[in-house]
Amino acid sequence: VTAAPPAVEEALAALDKRVEAALAAGDSNGLQVLGYGEISTVLVLETPEGRFAAKRLPPFRDAASFAAYAQVFDAYLEVLNARSVATVASRLVSLEGRSGTRVAYCLQPILPADTLLPRVLAAASPDEALRHLDRVLAATVAVIDEHTGLDAQASNWVLVDGELRYLDVTTPLLRDERLRLRLDASVFLASLPWLVRPPVRRFVLPGIIERYHDRRAVLLDLAANLWKERLDRLVAPLLERIARLVERPVTLDEAERYYRSDAATWSLLQRLRRADRFWQRHVRRRVYPFLLPGSIER
Ligand SMILES: Nc1ncnc2c1ncn2[C@@H]1O[C@H](COP(=O)(O)OP(=O)(O)OP(=O)(O)O)[C@@H](O)[C@H]1O
Ligand SMILES: [Mg+2]
Repeated sequence: VTAAPPAVEEALAALDKRVEAALAAGDSNGLQVLGYGEISTVLVLETPEGRFAAKRLPPFRDAASFAAYAQVFDAYLEVLNARSVATVASRLVSLEGRSGTRVAYCLQPILPADTLLPRVLAAASPDEALRHLDRVLAATVAVIDEHTGLDAQASNWVLVDGELRYLDVTTPLLRDERLRLRLDASVFLASLPWLVRPPVRRFVLPGIIERYHDRRAVLLDLAANLWKERLDRLVAPLLERIARLVERPVTLDEAERYYRSDAATWSLLQRLRRADRFWQRHVRRRVYPFLLPGSIER
């Protein structure tokens, strides 16, 4: 990881203080939020060198575990770009946290809201929208194999000056020769209540990871997620296109069932995290370290 200019680091340290204050108070007042994913909150960072989108990563227990993450992060960007999937310029910056921990952010340029793919698709004619989705399909097919995974959902792409770029780069889905996750799984699990981490690690995570390496599963997820984005009219034509890329076509019915169960899983997860936050703050009297999204329409 290259060092960030001191002015950027300073501004980030100031932003992180505000994040800490928001976490201590239990609300995101005073923070400018650009967007929420299922896991992360993306904030505005103002610096003398311009404004950036800043995504806070789960706290790292020490400098070594951050360094290990940074290595996999860099490797992932390299693989994507080598397979012609352009990534949004992304840089990791880490700060010293409490008692030897590292707090890290991924910084990106702020992308105008109307370049985010869900917005582009909503504004486009059906033909245009399908042309954009064809490019997502091509990029996805070019990237995925047993070593490299991808989360191809529409919300992870932007269209800048006619060029498709991938933005959700903080979960590097890479596996080694023996198909072991290169990333320390605790980074994935950090945002879950500790009570459910062991069973999730053992029974749920392997299945989730496997899905990101399976072309059909990733494309099914992309198509079904269009319902969440309120782009219903694109689901059926996208499934027709996906049918040309997979051995066993996905029916509308399967996509619908998948979407319902996926939505149920994520809302369960959000409820667990909110319950955990309540427990940590009011019973354990500790600061809960994640900014959670409000309720998500599904
Ligand atoms: N650079 C950016 N500029 C503007 N908006 C952004 C930027 N990065 C992210 N966003 C907004 O925040 C949302 C969530 O970002 P992202 O997809 O990276 O997080 P996530 O889905 O929670 O990721 P993960 O699952 O890896 O934690 C995006 O869909 C987008 O709306
Ligand atoms: Mg995302």
